[in-house]
Amino acid sequence: MHLLMPKDNTWKKFLRDEVMDEFSIKKSQITSPDGLPILEIDEKTPLRKSYLGLALDILPETQTIPAGSIGEQSSLIVNLLKKSNISQTAYQVFSISNKYGVVTSGRSELLSQKLAKNLRKEGIKRGKFHFKDCPLIKACIYPDRSIKISILDKVKRQEYDHLLSPFPGGYTTITDDKQAPSRAFKKLVEAQLVLGNEIKEDETLVDLGACPGGWSYVALNQGAQVTSIDRSPLREDLMPKVNFSAEDAFKFMTEDGFDWVVSDIICTPDRILELIETWATPQKCKNFVFTIKFKGSDSYDILQSFKKKLHSLDYDCILRQLNVNKNEVMVMGTRI
Ligand SMILES: C[S@@+](CC[C@H](N)C(=O)[O-])C[C@H]1O[C@@H](n2cnc3c(N)ncnc32)[C@H](O)[C@@H]1O
Repeated sequence: MHLLMPKDNTWKKFLRDEVMDEFSIKKSQITSPDGLPILEIDEKTPLRKSYLGLALDILPETQTIPAGSIGEQSSLIVNLLKKSNISQTAYQVFSISNKYGVVTSGRSELLSQKLAKNLRKEGIKRGKFHFKDCPLIKACIYPDRSIKISILDKVKRQEYDHLLSPFPGGYTTITDDKQAPSRAFKKLVEAQLVLGNEIKEDETLVDLGACPGGWSYVALNQGAQVTSIDRSPLREDLMPKVNFSAEDAFKFMTEDGFDWVVSDIICTPDRILELIETWATPQKCKNFVFTIKFKGSDSYDILQSFKKKLHSLDYDCILRQLNVNKNEVMVMGTRI
């Protein structure tokens, strides 16, 4: 069984619609245990070849560990790993509850600690999530204390990579920064974490629709050379630090390529498809991060057009709603 995690219970019905569309399956083929913010679909569903914009995280091909003591459950997990011949693995353990959603404290923390100890004893090293060669385990403790566990060897991990979150159950919070000119700055911070690729010193970045400057602020703080495009200027203190151009971001063009092209422009989703068409070519940018903004709840089916487009690009792409997104989904890519 594959588990899919929407942002919360409110988003469950939209993710269900997306899943029905994406895999041409019926509502009755998707279950959701006890109203949890989780969808379960048949393991034969070709998840590895798909993008799901409204799934924050997935647990592919899960096995079930029955309820029991933490010691017993940890031993059962280690036995499964021994069978899978894994000598190193990254792992995430979380609980899921009707009331609180994803929780990483309490029982999940205890199981994580026990697992760490047992794995060490067996000589299985802990790896880091973003090492693509590293196998990955995601374990979700259900309210009845049974566990759904996904064990992905190196090959499977790479096949599902674009759908896997670096955060347990996809859930994280981004630390606030009172100096940032807008709360929107958090989107670019979380996007980098999800991409596993950060804006580096002296890299070039163009920020389309940049005012009041949250994203430019993040890039400047990371040492990038920033070009900011908006009809309105950024917050005053940022203006001398960026190369600002007051123009229509959709008409902006240069001969130079950029390390990063990012956009948080308020516009209809089809215009973001245009931006992908313009910018997502290897000569023009190494990485892109664009926000797709929705009005209301009846236009998520345009995500299908994004998926089609992403399959044709020479980029490792991620289409995903972030924790910090409201009625938005991010589309991101890193040149292969
Ligand atoms: C949500 S705000 C961006 C917030 C910014 N990312 C931040 O962190 O502060 C969207 C911006 O897009 C700009 N915008 C909308 N359409 C535009 C266009 N065609 N060309 C340039 N800027 C545009 C708006 O002026 C607005 O400042």
